[in-house]
Amino acid sequence: MGATQVNVMNWSGRVALITGAGSGIGRSTAQEFAALGAKVAILDRDEGAGSETLEAILRAGGEAIFLPTDVTSEDSVAASVAETVSRFGRLDAAYNNAGISPDTGTTVDCSRERWDQIFAVNVTGVWLCMKHEIEAMLKTGGGAIMNTGSVSSLRAAPQLPAYVASKHALIGLTKVTALEYAKQNIRVNIICPGVIETPMLAKKAAEGFFSIDQYVQSSVPMNRAGRPDEIASAVIWACSEAASYLTGATLSVDGGMVIA
Ligand SMILES: NC(=O)c1ccc[n+]([C@@H]2O[C@H](COP(=O)([O-])OP(=O)(O)OC[C@H]3O[C@@H](n4cnc5c(N)ncnc54)[C@H](O)[C@@H]3O)[C@@H](O)[C@H]2O)c1
Repeated sequence: MGATQVNVMNWSGRVALITGAGSGIGRSTAQEFAALGAKVAILDRDEGAGSETLEAILRAGGEAIFLPTDVTSEDSVAASVAETVSRFGRLDAAYNNAGISPDTGTTVDCSRERWDQIFAVNVTGVWLCMKHEIEAMLKTGGGAIMNTGSVSSLRAAPQLPAYVASKHALIGLTKVTALEYAKQNIRVNIICPGVIETPMLAKKAAEGFFSIDQYVQSSVPMNRAGRPDEIASAVIWACSEAASYLTGATLSVDGGMVIA
C-alpha cells in the first residue's frame, strides 16, 4: 500500500468557526486557520476584540467574518452558525473555545451567581454551539469539532470549584457527542491546554491568584508556559483529515503537566 496524501496544511475552500476568537488561544487559532487558507468565522461577545482579530486576518490576506456572539444565548449561537453557512456555504471545523475563569474562592465561598455564570459559558455554551454546528455539518456530509477543556478537566485545583467542575463536564459531553455522531462523519474531541500565555492567564496572575513563573516551575515539566499557537496547531491537526480516525479523544497539550 502506498503512502496517502494527507495534507494537514491546506484548508483552502474549507470553513472554520472559532468561539472566543477575540483573544488568546481563540484568536491565535483563527489566525492560523486563516493563514492555511480556511474561511474563518470569528465569534466573540467582545466586539472590540473580535474586530481586532478580523482586522489582523484581513491585513495578513486571509478571509474572515466577525460575528458578535454570546455563546450562552441559543438565539445568538444559532444566528451566527446560520450566518457562517450563508456567507461561506458550509461548516467544516468548529473550535468551541470561549471560556471564563473568574475568581470564585473555595467551594464554600463560591456564590450561586458565579457558579451559574461559569457553567453557562463553559458548559452550556459549548453544548449550544455543538447543537447548531452539528446540524450545519450534517447538511454537507460531516465535519470536525474541538472543544476546550483544560488541565482542570483532568485534575483538581483549589479555589476553582466551578471552573474545574465545568471543564470536567466537557469531557463527558464531548464523549457523548462523539459517540452519537461517529457514524455520520462528525468527529468530536477535547483539547486540554496547560499554562498558556494569554490575557486570561495574565489576569489571574494580576489578581494575585498565582505567580506565573512559580506556577510554571512547580508544575510544568517542560519548565515554560505554552504559546497560544502551540494549542492552535494541535486543534488544526485534530480537525484535519490527518486525524481522520480521532474521535472522543482527550488531547493534553500542556508541556507534561498532567503526567507530573
Ligand atoms: N490560558 C490558559 O492557560 C488556559 C489553560 C487551559 C484552558 N484554557 C481555556 O482556553 C480557552 C481560551 O482561554 P484564553 O486563555 O485564550 O482566554 P481569554 O480570556 O484570553 O479569551 C477568551 C475569549 O472568550 C470570549 N468569551 C468569554 N465569554 C464569552 C461568551 N459568553 N460568548 C462569546 N465569547 C466569550 C472573551 O471575550 C475572550 O475573547 C478557555 O476556554 C479557557 O478556559 C486556557
